[in-house]
Amino acid sequence: MTTTTYDRNKSTTMKALVYHGPNKLALEDRPRPTIIEATDAIVRITTTTLCGTDLHILKGDVPSVSDGRILGHEGVGIVEEVGSSVLNFHKGDKVLISLITSCGRCSFCKKGMYSHCREGGWLLGNSIDGTQAEYVRIPYADTGLYRLPAEVDDEAAVMLSCNLPTGMECGTLSGQVKPGDVVAIIGAGPVGLCVLLTAQLYSPAEIIMIDLDDNRLEAARSFGATKTINSADGKAAQKVMALTEGAGVDVAIEAVGIGPTFDLCQAIIAPGGHIANVGVHGKPVELHLEKLWGANITLTTRLVDAGSTPMLLRMVESGHLDAKKLVSHHFDLIDILKAYDTFANAAKQQAVKVVIKNAIAGN
Ligand SMILES: NC(=O)c1ccc[n+]([C@@H]2O[C@H](COP(=O)([O-])OP(=O)(O)OC[C@H]3O[C@@H](n4cnc5c(N)ncnc54)[C@H](O)[C@@H]3O)[C@@H](O)[C@H]2O)c1
Ligand SMILES: [Zn+2]
Ligand SMILES: [Zn+2]
Repeated sequence: MTTTTYDRNKSTTMKALVYHGPNKLALEDRPRPTIIEATDAIVRITTTTLCGTDLHILKGDVPSVSDGRILGHEGVGIVEEVGSSVLNFHKGDKVLISLITSCGRCSFCKKGMYSHCREGGWLLGNSIDGTQAEYVRIPYADTGLYRLPAEVDDEAAVMLSCNLPTGMECGTLSGQVKPGDVVAIIGAGPVGLCVLLTAQLYSPAEIIMIDLDDNRLEAARSFGATKTINSADGKAAQKVMALTEGAGVDVAIEAVGIGPTFDLCQAIIAPGGHIANVGVHGKPVELHLEKLWGANITLTTRLVDAGSTPMLLRMVESGHLDAKKLVSHHFDLIDILKAYDTFANAAKQQAVKVVIKNAIAGN
């Protein structure tokens, strides 16, 4: 473990992972965040992690992220300070940070569409500084934080910041997975694997997992996938059609965020099926209406609202969802650039989810 000699209690700076444009990241000293609004909390991060969305940001796919932004929208930590109108949290509370900030009062929040909150949405590590740092400022702390019992494992809990609600809401629920369905999930990254874990709650007959990475496909099999296909040979569509006797799949979930995997979903969807796009896309894709106009399909795409988080947290607490098994690698915050390298080269490094511990801030 990396140790450092400075006293965090006296310091007004912190280490943070800063984005400086496509493919440029640096670990820098930045001022510690302070309370700006009465509804804010400052959280000392104990555990954070990287998301496929951070890799899209690095590719330049997410233009709302500007030069100088501290990345990260996933985290578990300890409340350090709260603004005067925060009612539910106090200094010292162990908390889960949701990727979604919501005021709880606007028209979209009232409809449960927290990701489109007029004052919030996906802000952390996007339009405000995020969690890949020693400290983070959480706006609307009463709605954006969840209290964690001391016994809940940080590494399991951090999967609830983004990946588990995303898999549940954008994949399983949008795809309307139901008993007996044949489901294909394209992308066996942490998000695709969270679709796999949550889809099983609805008893589909088959879950076919498709990726280029044999290590992640093996993880998928151990998590309950009934079939896996390595699509490197370009024949995934034919293989899925052969597996389904030419019918195609009831649900096709895109969990990568590129054109070819969206095309694959369109090629394998059965009449009456549901294509659920989960991936963050940086480029346009082709919609094959010349083939699909009469196929009675639905196509959904969305940002995660994280409204399923309390339910998923109860499932993790009760042991019904084993989220910790996604974790393949651990790093200290001081080595976060190595963590990015490992996650971005997941197949070579046999990585699934890389967890970052904040040893700097005294954990
Ligand atoms: N909609 C939302 O609210 C939301 C929230 C979180 C994440 N996401 C998105 O979900 C997606 C998955 O996230 P992740 O963390 O699992 O990312 P990841 O980068 O770890 O995983 C992507 C997987 O896709 C595979 N892949 C790449 N090219 C492929 C191809 N041509 N064919 C088959 N597989 C291919 C990779 O091998 C990898 O396993 C990303 O696009 C991410 O931005 C969306
Ligand atoms: Zn994410
Ligand atoms: Zn709102």
